[in-house]
Amino acid sequence: MPELLPRARASQESVFARMSRLAAQYGAVNLGQGFPADSPPAFLLDAARRAVGTLDQYSPPSGLPALRDAIGTDLGVDGADVIVTCGATEALNVLALSLYGPGDEVLMLEPVFDVYIPQTLLAGAIPVTVPMQLSGAGGWSLNLEALKAAVTPCTRALLLNSPYNPTGTVFSREELTEIVALARAHDLWIISDEVYDELYFGEKPVSIRDMAPERTFTVGSAGKRLEATGWRVGWIACPPASTGNGEAGRGVAANIAGVRQQGSFCSPTPLQAAVALALPLARAEGFYQDLRAEYSARRGLLAGGLRDLGAAVFMPQGTYFLTAIHPEWRAESLVERGVAVIPGEAFYWQHPAPEGLLRVAFCKSRDEIARALQRLSAVNQVAL
Ligand SMILES: Cc1ncc(COP(=O)(O)O)c(C=O)c1O
Repeated sequence: MPELLPRARASQESVFARMSRLAAQYGAVNLGQGFPADSPPAFLLDAARRAVGTLDQYSPPSGLPALRDAIGTDLGVDGADVIVTCGATEALNVLALSLYGPGDEVLMLEPVFDVYIPQTLLAGAIPVTVPMQLSGAGGWSLNLEALKAAVTPCTRALLLNSPYNPTGTVFSREELTEIVALARAHDLWIISDEVYDELYFGEKPVSIRDMAPERTFTVGSAGKRLEATGWRVGWIACPPASTGNGEAGRGVAANIAGVRQQGSFCSPTPLQAAVALALPLARAEGFYQDLRAEYSARRGLLAGGLRDLGAAVFMPQGTYFLTAIHPEWRAESLVERGVAVIPGEAFYWQHPAPEGLLRVAFCKSRDEIARALQRLSAVNQVAL
């Protein structure tokens, strides 16, 4: 019999899929996996209904021109520098395959969003993680000195996520300025995963692309922005063609699209058309403001409830997740008691996770959050 390669045999069911499976098995409220309880906005669904039956064939591997332009307008970049992908997951994978290979080191922070490590390894490169600091009073903070110390002659790229899943951190202009200086000093690519760019609770996050357009790839997700995570429409905004980085005068985006076409070839065409119409409407109709107001309320409900039950809560500045530690709670037993959350260890690869760290999603309905809090209160009663 032929054998599977070790990398195929080593790949495990993701913790998100496992917790969702266990949630279904135990009838638990699922505050684990990050998909919203709410439906996508009507203006997006209506546009998709009109597109299915009209735009049903392949589209160009770099994306429908109308969508590339809509993303470009939304982000303030040229649509010609944008590539549409099957979600941010494919965007990150295409960048891994295009930017680094055997022997290259890729710097990232820990806790780390789960796909960064396997995608780097599948590209043949070496993930190097720098732990975020966590203190009871101050919450999460970036250790810039440790980041600088982790750079070696083999470092090729810095992979950042702001707003940051799972910590909820939004990096400040000062922090990003230091990161840009580091990237320029060592001639590194910057991959900036900004899928939660519209989900913030304080000041609008700064995009590192504006500070270092010549070396930054920005990754985005219509699924996250428009509450349609199953649609698989994401994007990469590449360094502008004018930086002269691409081969044969084609621009970086054309080169990256060349790699992308060997995978999924294109994203679902009618859904791209719908997102193209929806992106300007989302701005015009104040959709993101409404989303932030609603998630801010749910964040308050969840954080307040968890604190009342004795948890230390690290309040997120963005994303729809919060992190918390409770001396008695562990994800594996909570799911059996009716509440699914993600264990902190799922986000650690090289360093130990803080004891008892949990990631809890608040993109769920207010009812689900209230029900989860009631069940956690019952868990505490039994523990007493
Ligand atoms: C930080 C981060 N990046 C990328 C993704 C993947 O996004 P998509 O669903 O568009 O593939 C997620 C999804 O949870 C995420 O949290």
